[in-house]
Amino acid sequence: MTTAPGNPTDPTAPAPSGGGTFYVTTPIYYVNDKPHLGHVYTTMVADVVARYHRLRGDDTFFLTGVDEHAAKVSDKAAEHGKTPQEWADLNAEQFRATFEKLEMTNDDFVRTSSDHHKAKVTEYVKALIDSDDIYEGEYVGWYDAGQEEYVPENKAKDNDYKSEVNGKPLVKKSEKNYFFRLSKYVPALLEHFEANPEFVQPTARKNEIVNRIKEAKDVPISRTGSGGWGIPVPDDEEQTIYVWIDALFNYLTYVDTPDRRHYWQSGATHFIAKDILWFHASIWPALLMALQKCDGYDWVNLPKQVYSHSYWVSKAKLDTGEEAVMKMGKSTGNFLDPETLNALVETFGLDALRYFLSTQGPLGTTDSEFSEDKYIEVYNSDLANTFGNSASRVSNMIGKYFDAKTPSRQDAKKTSELSQTVSLFSLEGFDVYFSVIDLADAAAKGLWVIGQVDGYIEAKRPFTLAKDPEKLPEVGTILYNCAEALRISSVLLWPFIPDKCETFWSRIGCDYAEQMKANGGKGKIDEWVQWGQLQPGTPIEKGDALFPRYQPPKK
Ligand code: MSP
Repeated sequence: MTTAPGNPTDPTAPAPSGGGTFYVTTPIYYVNDKPHLGHVYTTMVADVVARYHRLRGDDTFFLTGVDEHAAKVSDKAAEHGKTPQEWADLNAEQFRATFEKLEMTNDDFVRTSSDHHKAKVTEYVKALIDSDDIYEGEYVGWYDAGQEEYVPENKAKDNDYKSEVNGKPLVKKSEKNYFFRLSKYVPALLEHFEANPEFVQPTARKNEIVNRIKEAKDVPISRTGSGGWGIPVPDDEEQTIYVWIDALFNYLTYVDTPDRRHYWQSGATHFIAKDILWFHASIWPALLMALQKCDGYDWVNLPKQVYSHSYWVSKAKLDTGEEAVMKMGKSTGNFLDPETLNALVETFGLDALRYFLSTQGPLGTTDSEFSEDKYIEVYNSDLANTFGNSASRVSNMIGKYFDAKTPSRQDAKKTSELSQTVSLFSLEGFDVYFSVIDLADAAAKGLWVIGQVDGYIEAKRPFTLAKDPEKLPEVGTILYNCAEALRISSVLLWPFIPDKCETFWSRIGCDYAEQMKANGGKGKIDEWVQWGQLQPGTPIEKGDALFPRYQPPKK
């Protein structure tokens, strides 16, 4: 299997900034219902990572969207007296509108009912039938209707023949099927895992998958009785392509055009949650290995990484009446819906939601519990008391002592404690944190710079010095340094809180947002974090508090 061009062999070794290509995806979500926080979360994480790559100057493609051909979509449609397509259209629109409202920067939005996707999937499956990696047979097994997946016998038994995800009984199902020769690809998959230790992240999840791959049997890739809801198996109208196969292919179909193929070849990064890791870490790469051998598909390589996060959890009522902390989801009813998310955005602003989800979410192997108290605490401590407060303080002083114009430095060549620390350390670790998807630490880097500004102000006390008119040049230097460090922190924080950073940029006369726009969305982080770019004399606008402190109403 070819390695994607430009991939560092050591995933923690950041590639030089700019000039790279980056392709990032999210799962495509079932449209049986409206979106909830879980869906928003993965798309938000991918959005932050996509923005970071754009900021670096990488040619970036970010894909999210919806998975339509599931039986639960047609079942739900029937309950509502609609055709599956009508129901899918309604909910797909909800997903699209939610993501748009949350200012996700996806470059396209997948609809698996689109003609392009259907035609491409048909093409791939036909090629795989022709190469005999897909063949006809009969399947009997335990089926998890909620997850739309067959569960292997040993796993079903371990869970007392109940769904691992929602606890509902599994059903025994038998059907004539087309099968994919997954078993044939077991050695190649194991080799791939061995040679690419970063393929599945976090690493802790890998062993479980590797053990399961060792036992992998061929998998059914079609079903009957879907009432025509799905993509027909080529030359067999009675069977439709199993929704999971149809869905996995979206990552490829949407970039399988002459102008987008290079994104695929750069090595995709797939963000998913742990519930769907098996499909992404086994069946998906094996399908690609098989496809690569078919005529005309030698350009198809493997994704670079599958990053599987944990769950947002919250209290749910069990059928027994007891309460338990469970994965947030539709089937358990313990989810945050778009209205609740909107209310949070109304009160705290969109950037606060972005910041909270991306830094406090279940990125590693531990689930996160959502609570409003925590949300308020993080908002006040990380946003209001840092960026918000520091920006107000510095712009107030510049307003008061320097007629709201960027002051000049006494000696531009002379370094200060602040300029030295910030120049040396602001980018340190930043790329590595992003390469290992440690978003909390990447954001903390931006906040760290602000902490330096606050410490510097406390040490230098410009507000005291300013009482002596002879010290004003010194005050000017101090405030120049503060504004400059805040500018640098805003560049680092932009992937997380883009709107407020852009407001701040416009207040200090930086045209980075315009530069990115003019340059196909690409930024110049390496250049923008260099010290000394604010021009003395540039007007500094004070404006409203970027993150006003939140006082919860008295209960
Ligand atoms: N349609 C399939 C995915 C096909 S991808 C080729 C599917 N859809 S889903 O609507 O069930 O979405 C699952 C995804 O939504 C998870 O993998 C995760 O990204 C996100 N989440 C849904 N609930 C979640 C939580 N409670 N917590 C975190 N993420 C959650 O599976």
